[in-house]
Amino acid sequence: MIGVNGGRQESNLVCCLASKKRKMTKGGYEMTRPSSYYSFIHSSRVSHSHSAMAASTTCFFQSSSSSSPLPFNFKQKNISIFRIRCCNASSSQNHSSVVTLTDPPPVYSSVKAFAPATVANLGPGFDFLGCAVDGIGDTVSLKVDPDVHPGEISISHISGQTPNIHKLSKNPLWNCAGIAAIEAMKMLRIRSVGLSLSLEKGLPLGSGLGSSAASAAAAAVAVNEIFGKRLSVDDLVLACLKSEEKVSGYHADNVAPSIMGGFVLIRNYQPLELMPLKFPSDKDLYFVLVTPEFEAPTKKMRAALPLEIGMPHHVWNSSQAAALVASVLQGDLFMLGKALSSDKIVEPKRAPLIPGMDAVKKAAIQAGAFGCTISGAGPTAVAVTDNEEKGHIIAQHMVRAFQKEGNLNASANVKQLDRLGARLISSVHLN
Ligand code: HSE
Repeated sequence: MIGVNGGRQESNLVCCLASKKRKMTKGGYEMTRPSSYYSFIHSSRVSHSHSAMAASTTCFFQSSSSSSPLPFNFKQKNISIFRIRCCNASSSQNHSSVVTLTDPPPVYSSVKAFAPATVANLGPGFDFLGCAVDGIGDTVSLKVDPDVHPGEISISHISGQTPNIHKLSKNPLWNCAGIAAIEAMKMLRIRSVGLSLSLEKGLPLGSGLGSSAASAAAAAVAVNEIFGKRLSVDDLVLACLKSEEKVSGYHADNVAPSIMGGFVLIRNYQPLELMPLKFPSDKDLYFVLVTPEFEAPTKKMRAALPLEIGMPHHVWNSSQAAALVASVLQGDLFMLGKALSSDKIVEPKRAPLIPGMDAVKKAAIQAGAFGCTISGAGPTAVAVTDNEEKGHIIAQHMVRAFQKEGNLNASANVKQLDRLGARLISSVHLN
């Protein structure tokens, strides 16, 4: 079995080899080494260029959307790498792809990846808008481990100062990092090596700061890095969505910005369409994040939402979400704050479930914030401002309001936009 790994989406093309020596010069793939081929018989996701090529070369290649295993018992132990050149019958364009027998080998013996916290919804953008914040997040260390069964993953450590950390399972099937890592390994069809994973929680659980998404994003990125960065951004987000789906619901407004950095609009889920929204690099934006000692499980906070809404609320929230997108692109903090504060559908249902939230929002605006809302599903409150010092003053007022009106202790962070997203922070090359 061979995988074609010449580009972002091409890594999912799979074909079988037979020992027959043939050469095609037009309308097919030409193997330059070794000179053997069979037809493409399986493809779980085919890039547009390959779809077009497959269509023009049906006598040699068939693609299908099935993800069923190949009907061959192809036991190739050694990894052979060779290059194929694709000639499209309908054009003179040639494409070249690197082909590997068996699954991709690890590039590193170990890697460490960091994924930032996120603010989802941003007021009216329920389930379709989110952004990443710098300096706080989760870290995943991953290593090739001969003691782990090939193709599998084991969680060796979970550490961090986070309260309730003991609640996190070391069973990879029940851990956000584990689920996303397994999914990324499946996408890469890893069968030759096993991995062990260690998770360092920097984010409090169920806080509204995208804690589960950051664990998933760091894990997916770590797997991708250790095997040579073959997955696309969309693949990474889809791997993390498996984890979000299992723990709280199918929403990408945390995982997409955690992986991509900056602001992200999720335009479509089926198929996934992500739109990064560029906030001007010369503008300052500070998030005041105030987290009370109170758990607001996402599942519970989602269950509190209406299943249907009326037309006036639809019109209002749509216009506010559009204003929010425009103000992000223009770097207009005053408008951004107004739009952030304007949700009439989700926030009014959730705020009463978080003691003191209404008073905290008022306190933030009175202290000079451009706007304030619930971060993700809560209980963190997020306010925006353009200056770090002002951010700390606003934070004090918000913490006091949580104490006075909600009888809750709260801690504050003043952070900037994270523009990078999940990233490799260290690696050890294989000897
Ligand atoms: N959009 C999701 C929600 C984010 O509000 O439920 C959860 O962090």
